[in-house]
Amino acid sequence: MRALPSVRVRGLVLGVACAALVGAVQAAPAGAAEPAPAPPSPLRLSAPGTDLALTPPMGFNNWNSTHCRAEFDEAMIKGVADLFVTKGLKDAGYEYVNLDDCWALPKRDAAGKLVPDPVRFPNGIKAVADYVHSKGLKFGIYTSAGTKTCDKLGFPGGLNHEYSDARQFADWGVDYLKYDNCYNTGVDAKKRYTTMHDALKATGRPIVFSICEWGESRPWEWAAGVGHLWRTTGDINDSWGSTLSIMKRNLPLHAYAGPGNWNDPDMLEVGNGGMTDTEYRTQFSMWSVMAAPLLIGTDLRKADAATFEILSNREVIAVDQDALGRQGAVISSEAGRWVVVKELSDGSRAVALFNESDRPQRIETSALAAGLPQARNYRVRDLWAHSDSSSAGTIAATVPAHGTVLLRISPERRGEFYPPAVELGPIGDWFARTDQPAQVSATLTNHGREKARAVSVQLSGPQGWDIRPTTPTRTGKLSTGITFTTGWKVKAPAGTRPGDYDLVLSAAYGSQEGKVKSEYPVRVSVVVPPQAGLSYVSDMPWVSSSNGWGPVERDLSVGGREARDGKPLTIGGQTYKKGLGANAPSVVHLYLGGKCSTLRASVGLDDETGTKGTVTYEVWADDRKIAATGVVDNSMPAQPVTADVTGAHSVRLVVTDAGDGTAYDHADWVDAKLTC
Ligand code: GLA
Repeated sequence: MRALPSVRVRGLVLGVACAALVGAVQAAPAGAAEPAPAPPSPLRLSAPGTDLALTPPMGFNNWNSTHCRAEFDEAMIKGVADLFVTKGLKDAGYEYVNLDDCWALPKRDAAGKLVPDPVRFPNGIKAVADYVHSKGLKFGIYTSAGTKTCDKLGFPGGLNHEYSDARQFADWGVDYLKYDNCYNTGVDAKKRYTTMHDALKATGRPIVFSICEWGESRPWEWAAGVGHLWRTTGDINDSWGSTLSIMKRNLPLHAYAGPGNWNDPDMLEVGNGGMTDTEYRTQFSMWSVMAAPLLIGTDLRKADAATFEILSNREVIAVDQDALGRQGAVISSEAGRWVVVKELSDGSRAVALFNESDRPQRIETSALAAGLPQARNYRVRDLWAHSDSSSAGTIAATVPAHGTVLLRISPERRGEFYPPAVELGPIGDWFARTDQPAQVSATLTNHGREKARAVSVQLSGPQGWDIRPTTPTRTGKLSTGITFTTGWKVKAPAGTRPGDYDLVLSAAYGSQEGKVKSEYPVRVSVVVPPQAGLSYVSDMPWVSSSNGWGPVERDLSVGGREARDGKPLTIGGQTYKKGLGANAPSVVHLYLGGKCSTLRASVGLDDETGTKGTVTYEVWADDRKIAATGVVDNSMPAQPVTADVTGAHSVRLVVTDAGDGTAYDHADWVDAKLTC
């Protein structure tokens, strides 16, 4: 008799019910693509050092946390090396401690040698490399395949100095070189990176060679055998929009990855503060499923316990570091519900159920669609909850907004017994008011072959909340594939301020393996009904908003990353007093409570981005898309959008990046008004 653990991961309790399998073995659900094509034979050995980077490099690089600020110095690098050891990161697989730009002086010495900045590195670079080595770790450095490096101060680059710079690096004990792309004077990338490859090889020292030309010349097509990894995109920043857009560009390149040759979607932002922990777990999960290098990009000396917990998840790291070296492939993606599958060396599959949208969604696939052989039962290992359950075939979970459920699935072996996988989750958006009760509901589905018995579902809230069931909350038994739906009326106490609150859904059921309990935190938005008449959206309260760059602005363009730093909204030379300044990907969520009839706005890219940027606009009422534009670019005048929102509980104003990344996507909704 065994009870399944429910593990608290940074405020989110993930029990077995969080991820589960539905029904009998069945074909891929509607909308699912064919199983991932097998990549070409991955074992392409690349010099220098033919046995290097046989799994994606793991380590640290200072750039995402410090850029060129003064805190990037010897003390930081040594401090990180110390923490690799004391916090168990070295044991978890992190190996390289790497310097980025700004470690050198702007001028070479009389002999043409690079000179370390004496303020940052008073003892030189070799002393730092020696220190890192003394901890049993490896050391990396940075320069550019151009005349200068990329920072605006422009430190000396390696172009035409390849052999002497490589020699100097090898003499210092460098084990890893990141080679950037600035000031390249137009010389062909393949030629520039091949010359440095040859120079590194000539040193005789095994040095991992990281090509950083931002995917401009499609390095995945030529760089196997030149470098061990190649950046596939421009720079990441610590925002959801950037992470999402980079992920989407890196995913289709799965067939080019393999031992010694990795697609590099840039370094981790986990811990830097610009995203939620759910979003950081998504970056860590998706980077691992994509067999991406795992280079920690936060100053570990300041990191909190939750950051260490994410970065130290060995079950997720094992997916990234799997010896087969496959990059996961997308097997379905529809309405922000992504299923990405990575084949692992033991025959199992890592399955990432990733929810791009801003509300909880059920994401469903099957063991067969994930490429597993037919079996009576499958073991479902949840790599964040660290729990096991048993499924009859189909894999499904209700995934929180921007979240990822990462599972490892294998046919159950003789003697393996796990409780039935039971999926618990809310249906749709949950709202609550202080003036009247609101209806909410949840489902519990048994996806195991064994019946779940004595099933009960409960909802609890903070002190003072009035929560009353509107349906039975217990059922005797639940067979395979059967869903038990429960509902409650929920009322927030008088005086509760509008905003998000956490309620906890919990379920308990019996099985031959014992009693299983699971919990699912559900975000409830306390809302106020809209005023009757005509209101500007920029004057209304919003349930939530998310934006690819800075916050969504009211009556201003998006401007920079700070709040209220935009300009007057301007489309095609005309300025507008009222409206929203957004940047793809963006969602503004409004509560209507069924009281409104029409939404009207004009949309277009703001003049502040010049001629670049492409987006699309969408209006969603509850779960239905009720209006959409085609691709909008900067040459277009403002265009009208009208949507009938009669009866809708809520609407979402959505801007997408039209599939080409989020840069320059300053998208305005001008004169946006609701009639209620
Ligand atoms: C480029 C690279 C970044 C970083 C900076 C340093 O932008 O892509 O990763 O190395 O240069 O200036």
